[in-house]
Amino acid sequence: MSFTVNPISPVLGVKISGLDLAKPMGDNLVAEIRQTWLDAGGLAIFPEQSLTTEQHIAFSRQFGPLFGAPGNTPLQETVSRYLHPDHPEIYRVSNRMENGEPKGRAGAGTYWHSDVAFKAQPAAASILYAIEIPACGGDTLFCNMTAAYEALSDTMKEMLAPLRAVHDFAQTAANQFARPVVIESDLKGDNRTVHPVVRTHAQTGAKSLFVNPGTTVGLDGFTPGESAALLGQLFSHATKPDFCVRHTYTQGDVVMWDNRTLMHYAVNDYGDQPRYMGRTTEIGEVPE
Ligand code: OGA
Ligand code: MN
Repeated sequence: MSFTVNPISPVLGVKISGLDLAKPMGDNLVAEIRQTWLDAGGLAIFPEQSLTTEQHIAFSRQFGPLFGAPGNTPLQETVSRYLHPDHPEIYRVSNRMENGEPKGRAGAGTYWHSDVAFKAQPAAASILYAIEIPACGGDTLFCNMTAAYEALSDTMKEMLAPLRAVHDFAQTAANQFARPVVIESDLKGDNRTVHPVVRTHAQTGAKSLFVNPGTTVGLDGFTPGESAALLGQLFSHATKPDFCVRHTYTQGDVVMWDNRTLMHYAVNDYGDQPRYMGRTTEIGEVPE
């Protein structure tokens, strides 16, 4: 194996060292990286990278089709103003301004969520490149929704098995944005859908919870009160520290996470210190 793997916690995540992601990779190496990432629950950190935008995209597309690539679905109508102006595959997360315009979305993901869950085909991997980071703060938390599912009682698992949840970007926009002003165009487009509450991973066959406070508005067939109670229980269970890791960035980190099996949370604790990250997002399967 041409890289070194170190777990970052027993529950989730590995650091993969010794690779230069800017260099072309053969199919075998890509397959080894994918397997290592899947074995780690779907979280890998690649430290000390130095990537151009094109290299970030080229690395990412080896793992699957990307939102925003020519001919593919755009990431989301609602975030078009935060995409890289020349490379719509890159979604920019930043509190920086450039020529009086936001350089990316400020306060993005400052709540537990799974990327693009409000689409019929939500994200598989997201690949985030840390270009500029605060002196301290601005960590990302991840929780393992496979471990959370497996820790449920058999009775709860049986109850959840047939359930479906409604996901809507309006939930994110209405309740969760920490800082950006929501404009009307943020809410247009086809950003509401229904997914199973428990999904089976297309590659590993593992079952995971697939609901999140960022986009899940309710459970099909339940009253709003019943929905809120059951979802609240699942969210507090899944985000127990036992299922979580917290990543503190070093500039140059590339972090790849699997939205099918994880939720993540951007910690909004760094005030006005500049933070600038670029993200590519793989188009996943219809959840089953
Ligand atoms: C994202 C996101 C986390 C962060 O890019 O999808 O949620 O810490 N960002 O910036
Ligand atoms: Mn996110």
